[in-house]
Amino acid sequence: MAGAFSAPKGVPDYVPPRSGALLAVRDGLAAPARRAGYSYVELPVFEDTELFARGVGQSSDVVAKEMYTFADRGGRSVTLRPEGTAGVLRCVLEHGLALGQLPVKLWYAGPFFRYERPQAGRYRQLHQVGVEAIGSDDPAVDAEVVAVAYEGYRSLGLRSFRLLLNTLGDATCRPAYRSLLQEFLAGLRLDAETRERAELNPLRVLDDKRAAVREQLAGAPLMADHLCAPCRDHYETVRALLARVGVEFSDDPRLVRGLDYYTRTTFEFVHDGLGAQSGIGGGGRYDGLSEAIGGPPLPGVGFGLGVDRTLLALEAEGAPLSVPPRCEVFAVSLGEAARAPLFALVVELRRAGIAADMAYGARGLKGSMKAADRSGAGVALVLGDRDLAGGVVQVKDLRTGEQSGVPLEKAVEEAARLVAELR
Ligand code: HAM
Repeated sequence: MAGAFSAPKGVPDYVPPRSGALLAVRDGLAAPARRAGYSYVELPVFEDTELFARGVGQSSDVVAKEMYTFADRGGRSVTLRPEGTAGVLRCVLEHGLALGQLPVKLWYAGPFFRYERPQAGRYRQLHQVGVEAIGSDDPAVDAEVVAVAYEGYRSLGLRSFRLLLNTLGDATCRPAYRSLLQEFLAGLRLDAETRERAELNPLRVLDDKRAAVREQLAGAPLMADHLCAPCRDHYETVRALLARVGVEFSDDPRLVRGLDYYTRTTFEFVHDGLGAQSGIGGGGRYDGLSEAIGGPPLPGVGFGLGVDRTLLALEAEGAPLSVPPRCEVFAVSLGEAARAPLFALVVELRRAGIAADMAYGARGLKGSMKAADRSGAGVALVLGDRDLAGGVVQVKDLRTGEQSGVPLEKAVEEAARLVAELR
């Protein structure tokens, strides 16, 4: 039955039942953010290309190599959003949201686009749930953001993930450290591309995964040893608050994130069951981003959690997800006369908040009961001519096989009682 087309390279389709699991992961990751006072924001999927160039940074791979950029019919250069932070800040500035009480706390979910080399867990269209808290430099906000992400994974039942924490300093202490690191890197044997990276964004070199480079980096100076006092205090407070609420983390002084806007606290959640693409979520503070995109000084901190990879991680752990049932009651009619009353019953069940479906087309009892089994429903309603004449419907508990005739006007109540037992 293969058709002529396939989905674009590197872009997954999610079909039932896995698509239901994807939704459950998205909702599960978003729930703690909503409980923590974050309001929903819905943003465009494409933006002015310049926003990402200035916001995310020219030296990041995301901007330099991975953007879906094109000219629209009006000749404007637009880009499918590779990430959410720059767009949220653009929106906050445009609508003056930071003129009121601070921080402004927003959450979002949706697709993002990166022209990466596709592999397991690395897609060209990916899904994230994100939060951004804008307008406060209080370290408690950093701790909140991290704790909200942690809660999301835990509430989904994920176990073997680790939280890596680091600080990247700020405009006061990072420039001096950057020069120091550049001096150190200049003394190493590096290929041309890495040398260029050392010029543009030396911190990224610390993140190099190749053994030959890693060996040489063993003695590299680390930001942690060159922090200014305010940055050190900030980091200490974040760590203490996380420890206090039982959020386990390990310090990773070499953690460098792939986007240029980060300052101070940065973090990443990694899962060991995913192979190379182990990052299931990450984020950090971005105190200079507002100025970079033409706004006033406005500190911020946030995260982006990978919905696709979180689902893969749950699957790797074999962790059962609680996905709402597609169908709780399945209705079967036998004969023409029963069809309309049964249809009405199904609509009534749905209005009563019960997931209900029915057999369509002429299938006969056997075929219809098979459909009932496949639907996953716990209860079947069967209505035939004789039942109809007697004003009853057969209500069958599909687990036990027990069946009884129930007056038609009591059918919804009886089905609801059985469904409640199953929920
Ligand atoms: P990011 O680390 O680039 O951060 O992306 C966040 C998460 O999205 C990753 O940890 C990963 O789980 C998922 N992800 C990224 N690329 C792919 C891909 N190609 N395929 C599948 N999943 C992927 C950000 O995007 C920042 N905006 C996060 C942030 C918000 N920082 C501050 N606020």
